[in-house]
Amino acid sequence: MEFSVKSGSPEKQRIACVVVGVYEPRRLSPSAQRLDDLTDGYISSLLRRGDLEGKAGQTLLLHNIDNTLCDRILLVGCGRERDLSFTQYRKVISHAVRILNDTGSMEAIFYLTELPVKTCDSSQRIRHAIEAAQSTLYRFDQLKSKKNSTRRPLRKIVLTVSNRRDLADGEQAVREGMAITQGITVAKDLGNMPGNICTPSYLADRAKSLSRVYEHLDVEILEEQQLKELGMNAFLSVSKGSRQAAKLIVMKYQNMDSEMAPICLVGKGVTFDSGGISLKPGAGMDEMKYDMCGAASVLGTINAIAELQLKTNVIAVIPATENLPDGLASKPGDIVTSYSGTTIEILNTDAEGRLILCDALSYCEQFNPAVVVDVATLTGACVIALGQHAAALYSNHSPLAHDLKNAGKTTGDRVWEMPLWEEYQEQLQSNFADLANIGGKAAGSVTAAIFLSAFCKKYQWAHLDIAGVAWQSGNNKGSTGRPVSLLTQYVIDHSKK
Ligand code: BES
Ligand code: MN
Ligand code: ZN
Repeated sequence: MEFSVKSGSPEKQRIACVVVGVYEPRRLSPSAQRLDDLTDGYISSLLRRGDLEGKAGQTLLLHNIDNTLCDRILLVGCGRERDLSFTQYRKVISHAVRILNDTGSMEAIFYLTELPVKTCDSSQRIRHAIEAAQSTLYRFDQLKSKKNSTRRPLRKIVLTVSNRRDLADGEQAVREGMAITQGITVAKDLGNMPGNICTPSYLADRAKSLSRVYEHLDVEILEEQQLKELGMNAFLSVSKGSRQAAKLIVMKYQNMDSEMAPICLVGKGVTFDSGGISLKPGAGMDEMKYDMCGAASVLGTINAIAELQLKTNVIAVIPATENLPDGLASKPGDIVTSYSGTTIEILNTDAEGRLILCDALSYCEQFNPAVVVDVATLTGACVIALGQHAAALYSNHSPLAHDLKNAGKTTGDRVWEMPLWEEYQEQLQSNFADLANIGGKAAGSVTAAIFLSAFCKKYQWAHLDIAGVAWQSGNNKGSTGRPVSLLTQYVIDHSKK
């Protein structure tokens, strides 16, 4: 999909479709009003007749309207004007895009980006529109033998700004929005790819191929032999039960001199999590192919950053492995020595995420990072705590937590902060090792974060538990691409400091 920005009156657009908003109850937005004035009240007469109330998601497609240059006008219901939140706004955009794609308009100009949306400026409205449009048309059909193709698909969307002065900012928003949606698509495709195809080496190959596309990006893959020599025994204790070789993927994006301390992004890359010897129940186990969504979002973010050629240094570290039961797999009660030297009693082999992340986090120390942010589908408990709307945020440095929360507000890809209080630490005591890898029933997402914090004492660190937000279940099963948008925004903000 192609996007651009423009300012100008709706009647002057020579295009397949002009899209304007109508509020509930039957109230015209400024651009709809302008079209109404030029047609002697034709649009308002339709509303009075009851064709459109203005409820969010309603649409009405009109053809051959007098005194305009377009083929069609699409009226889109936006709900009540003062209730227009970014969530509602994205739904409205999504409805419009679906109708246009199904009714043969290959190009359209959206005046919806001029509507006031709570807490959003014009640039945010443009970015939301691009993300919503792209995600509405996203399909993962690579593995279907017959693809549903649309005969005249929507190819080009022009987004309007109300004032010529806003054009430059609008164009920047389009550049950012397109880079971010590209990153989201990369993350979604990796997440949706089944575990028999998306293996640790598949992730490594995707990272390698990105480095061939972007000049500031270098990728190094550490193989099992090297991981053994380094002493990453916590990481290797998870991959032992799998016939797929584990990989530590290290991606270095450098577009500033090497003096500048990098941002490190660490992503959990468990390409399938069966639980190991502490086997998970069978129902819904297919969804554990999504246990590499942290890795996918980090890869997608690197893609977005490289696409925008941001002036910054970022290093991504992705421990990639499967977690399977086997004669050689780790058993409950096994004790391993992590890369940092801390010993860990593996009381449950299904708490594998923290075992691979702790070694990857210790590995980041050598880069003298400005900050380290890890992203992981870490706990089912996080889904119980926050559901699917916010990722859990934990941090040992409050300015970093603040910046991540702000990036979440800017993009709508939101996080909610949770505590790392010392009182939780006793839940991880082990009789036989320095730490246990599980902390009992209570506060499962917190104790997982507390476990990680033990390996992050030397730098400013934040952890995002994305178990609830990374994918959707049920009829719309699929990866969401979160939190690519949040992470990219954080890096954009950081690069301006
Ligand atoms: N990948 C899972 C977490 C998960 C489960 C995410 C369900 C989304 C939905 C993780 O590796 C795991 O199995 N965690 C265990 C930890 C427990 C054994 C302490 C969990 O949450 O049950
Ligand atoms: Mn697990
Ligand atoms: Zn897992």
